[in-house]
Amino acid sequence: MLTGEGAMGNDGVNTGRRRFLVTATSVVGAAGAVGAAVPFVGSWFPSAKARAAGAPVKVNISKIEPGQQMIAEWRGQPVLIVRRTPEILSSLGQLTGRLSDPESKDSTQPGYVDPVVRSIRPEILLLVGICTHLGCSPTFRPEVAPADLGKDWVGGYFCPCHGSRYDLAGRVYKAQPAPLNLPVPPHSYESDSVIVIGVDQEEA
Ligand code: FES
Repeated sequence: MLTGEGAMGNDGVNTGRRRFLVTATSVVGAAGAVGAAVPFVGSWFPSAKARAAGAPVKVNISKIEPGQQMIAEWRGQPVLIVRRTPEILSSLGQLTGRLSDPESKDSTQPGYVDPVVRSIRPEILLLVGICTHLGCSPTFRPEVAPADLGKDWVGGYFCPCHGSRYDLAGRVYKAQPAPLNLPVPPHSYESDSVIVIGVDQEEA
């Protein structure tokens, strides 16, 4: 269903990978349970080959704890999914002057996503985890003021390749190698706990 490939290069690291694998396992388990009741489940959960070609991917987000991230895979790309806390959300509005494109006017995101918090539901953030500089995997760094990132760091993504910094809406800071915010993929909610990546909200 999902693979651990998207966890590569991510520092939320062992914890993040473990959490991802646990969640992936639960998604497979859920698919199996549905399969027992519905014979055509195969059409709901496309093959690995179909997914690689761009088929939508369903992800159960119920096990993501506040402040934590899981990583799914869609079209061979890592999709970072974060459950943001009220503290994280309130910090986003205070960063405007430090960001290159605070309202994502030049960045890739669906029209139904709020331009500032960059999500459908404020607490659930989805980003394509590929740095807009040269394509490395930004590292999830949700902590505040860690020694290596400085006292102004309020949580975000840090790209280990050339040091680009993004906030927890995937918005890039000013004067970084990366020119644009991290893209938000098309997505929609099948239920409170299931997101469909690759299907736009209006089409759901
Ligand atoms: S690839 Fe991320 S900063 Fe260069």
